[in-house]
Amino acid sequence: MVELSNFTSFFVANWKLNGSFQFISQYLESLNKEKFTKKCVVLCPPSPYLNYVKDLSKHSFIGAQDCSCFEEGAYTGEISTKILSDIGINFCIVGHSERRKYFKESNEAVKDKTLKLIENRIIPIICIGETLEEKNSNRTNEILNKQINESVPESANEHNSIIAYEPVWAIGTGKTPTLNEIEDSHKFIRKINKKFLNFKILYGGSVNIKNSKQISDIKNVDGALIGGASLKIEEFIKIIINSSWFNFSY
Ligand code: 13P
Repeated sequence: MVELSNFTSFFVANWKLNGSFQFISQYLESLNKEKFTKKCVVLCPPSPYLNYVKDLSKHSFIGAQDCSCFEEGAYTGEISTKILSDIGINFCIVGHSERRKYFKESNEAVKDKTLKLIENRIIPIICIGETLEEKNSNRTNEILNKQINESVPESANEHNSIIAYEPVWAIGTGKTPTLNEIEDSHKFIRKINKKFLNFKILYGGSVNIKNSKQISDIKNVDGALIGGASLKIEEFIKIIINSSWFNFSY
């Protein structure tokens, strides 16, 4: 399992449903030239490309975008944590709002997947976040509390799991919360249970080269989960280089 405490900050590229062999080879040709001390870079391609990215990548870790609740058997189309572990995958995004929305993924399913990932020594990146409607009715903290309590299992701790705060309304929209709002939500998450105090908590939602430096200055944010901007390799590299994430103790 990757030793999270070795890193001061985390940059997770969620490619979503994008990529091709050509895209990957050009991407890694650029990324492989960079070596980021203490900054953990995780590439999450669509699953058919996991192995290819793993083979080409020199300094990055590889993450899946989802996994199955099932271990093995007659579950057509599923990819188990055991298989992900077998092919050497280090991280896996779980509970992304797009999975919650389009594939009706519940907190219970997210918890189940997280448990299995931990058992297979893969680090889950557990996504939580409120919708615009929930934000506008001042329910952000209530939603975060519920998602955390229902989707993070007992066995999750600061060494084997990561949390990503991704306000649904900020994903792919170019809109972001204010810096204070991000700080408040991250602080709130840490306080839900004292075991979250030293968790790595990433921010995701329209992170780009224009706002990443400021977001990286927020004390309670340990890195970023990046969609659109992670597909542009020059921008992704700049985001990593320009960030000022340090290892704070809370
Ligand atoms: P964008 O960076 O495109 O807003 O996507 C964020 C996200 O969903 C990362 O998981």
